Amino acid sequence: MDYVRRAWRVKREKHMRFVVIGASRGLGLSLTQRMLKDGHQVVATTRAASPPLDALSGEFPGRLLVLTCDATDEAATQEAARKAGEFLGPIDAVCHNAGVLLDSDRTLKLHESDIADLRTTLDINVVGPVITVQSFLPYMAAGGRFFVVTSEGVGITSCGSWVPAYALSKAAATKACGILNASVKGHDFYAVHPGRMDTDMGRTTAQIQPEETAEGMLKLMTGQVPLSRDHWYIDYHGVPMQA
Ligand SMILES: NC(=O)c1ccc[n+]([C@@H]2O[C@H](COP(=O)([O-])OP(=O)(O)OC[C@H]3O[C@@H](n4cnc5c(N)ncnc54)[C@H](OP(=O)(O)O)[C@@H]3O)[C@@H](O)[C@H]2O)c1
Repeated sequence: MDYVRRAWRVKREKHMRFVVIGASRGLGLSLTQRMLKDGHQVVATTRAASPPLDALSGEFPGRLLVLTCDATDEAATQEAARKAGEFLGPIDAVCHNAGVLLDSDRTLKLHESDIADLRTTLDINVVGPVITVQSFLPYMAAGGRFFVVTSEGVGITSCGSWVPAYALSKAAATKACGILNASVKGHDFYAVHPGRMDTDMGRTTAQIQPEETAEGMLKLMTGQVPLSRDHWYIDYHGVPMQA
């Protein structure tokens, strides 16, 4: 029995079915690339045409479906989920990677913040993941898991003044994963700090390349790194973070 279960797990690890939300560049693109290179089948969403994703479609025919979808658009995300279900069958894991850190947030303190930018940040970084979960839940495999890319330093009492809209939004998105774990049976939700990556967003504070995070994320998503929903706020190695 153990042998059968192990063989089944290995088979699943070899050919799993994944969704990456927000895959046009940065971590989302690296993760999609890594999944395809490792033999998995992937649905990747982008809010505008993405030449690198189109190139990957050519390189991995039949294993990548690219869908255009703004992560804040409920109807478009529901339609993307339906198409993903058709293409992949039951989905093993979804990574909600889409996120923003707007320019005004890099310079203005919270008491001076641009309210329109604050609303946009919360919409994309907090409401977006909830829309993803609502839309994709019906298409998940039994035990299928969600990974929401959040950030470090999300604790309620650990406050700094830098990137305030972003900090608020990532704290809320992290908490959303805990609330979802308390609300939904049969699926686990993880908030993942991806490290300080050398991407358009993270260039000024970077310590690692997004490829390193992608490798770690994929180990979490395939189950190579064992996880427990008791520790749902983790880094990209699967190490529990302080909430
Ligand atoms: N870089 C870091 O050091 C760092 C640190 C902590 C956490 N993070 C988090 O890691 C994730 C990936 O960041 P990154 O560094 O790879 O950033 P990035 O290079 O700026 O890429 C962000 C991605 O999110 C997509 N996106 C933004 N808004 C979207 C929307 N409304 N709908 C769909 N897609 C949307 C972007 O698509 P477009 O091309 O259409 O804009 C892009 O693909 C983000 O959630 C970020 O907050 C990053």
